[in-house]
Amino acid sequence: MSLYSKATPAPGAAAFKGRHLLDLKDLTPAEVLQILAAAAEWKDRGSDPGLPQPLRGKTLGMIFTKSSTRTRVSFQAAVNQLGGQAIFLGTGELQLGRGETIADTARVLSRYLDGILIRTYDQREVEELAAHATIPIINGLTDQSHPTQALADLQTIHERFGRWQGLRLAYVGDGNNVAVSLMEAAAKVGMDFAAATPPGYEPDPARVASARADAAALGGRVTVCRDPFEAVREASVVYTDVWVSMGQEAEREARLRAFAPYQVNEALMAAARPDAIFMHCLPAHRGEEVAAAVIDGPRSAVFDQAENRLHVYKAILSLFV
Ligand code: CP
Ligand code: NVA
Repeated sequence: MSLYSKATPAPGAAAFKGRHLLDLKDLTPAEVLQILAAAAEWKDRGSDPGLPQPLRGKTLGMIFTKSSTRTRVSFQAAVNQLGGQAIFLGTGELQLGRGETIADTARVLSRYLDGILIRTYDQREVEELAAHATIPIINGLTDQSHPTQALADLQTIHERFGRWQGLRLAYVGDGNNVAVSLMEAAAKVGMDFAAATPPGYEPDPARVASARADAAALGGRVTVCRDPFEAVREASVVYTDVWVSMGQEAEREARLRAFAPYQVNEALMAAARPDAIFMHCLPAHRGEEVAAAVIDGPRSAVFDQAENRLHVYKAILSLFV
C-alpha cells in the first residue's frame, strides 16, 4: 500500500543526500513519508544477495558511547546488505576519550568516511559533530531523542492499521528520548499523541509546543496528562519504555517509586481500543514498565518494531549517505 496521500508530493531522493539526520523536527512531513515509503520497498525486497548496492564503496563510522543491541546490529547489517562497510568505534577507541575535540574528530573522519552514526549522552555533542563534519551524521540516540527508532515505529503502526491519521498513540511512563521522538514523529504524520507521565517526568515542554504546531497542521493533537487510563482511552497504540534510561542508574530507586502506577499491564490495555497493539522500543524490563502478559501476549508488536529498524535503516542509508 502506498504511504502517500494524493495531496503529498514525494521529494526526490536527491533532497536527502549528504544531509544530517539529527532529529525528526528537521524533516518535513513529506520527507518522513518518503523515508517510510523507501523502507517499505526495502522490506518488500528482503535480504537477497541480489539487492541493489547503493553503499558499494562507502564506509559508515559507528561511534557508540552507550550500549546497543538493535541500533548497532541492524545498522551494521543494513550497511553490509547494501554493499558497504561499517567501522564500529566504541568507548575508548577514539582519541576523543583522551581530549581530542569533537570538531577535529569530525574534520578528520570526514576525510575517511561517507557517514557517521553516533549514539551518545549529550545531544550537543551530536550537533557539534554535525557542525564540523562534511559527511552526513545520523543520531543513533542521545539523552534527548531517538529519531531513527521513531521512524521504524511509524512503519510498524502503518503496517498494522494502514494509516496514521485518526489513530491515537498513548505513551505511558517516562517522557524521555524515545517519547520525545515518538511525539515528533506522530506530529509529522497527523497521528494523535497522548502522554501520561508522573510530575517532573514530562517530555521537554519546548518540544511539546513545537510538536503541537506540527500536529495541528495535519489535524493531529499532542496532549500530556497524569492519568495513564485517560491517555489510553480510544488509543490504538499503547507504548512504553524503560523507567531508568542509560545514564540514570543513580536515580533508579526514586524512579521506580514515581513510575509504579504507570506499568502497562492487562488492566491498562483493557482500557484502550479492543484492537490496540502494545509497542516498546526494547530493551524491556518485565514487571517494571510492562507486565510479561502484555509484552509476551498477542497484542505485542515489539519484535516487528525491532525488525523494522533494519528496513528503515536501509532507507536512511540509501537516501542520506
Ligand atoms: N531500541 C534500541 O535503540 O535498542 P538498542 O539500545 O539495543 O539499540
Ligand atoms: N530510553 C532508553 C532507550 C534505549 C533504547 C535509554 O535511553 O536507555
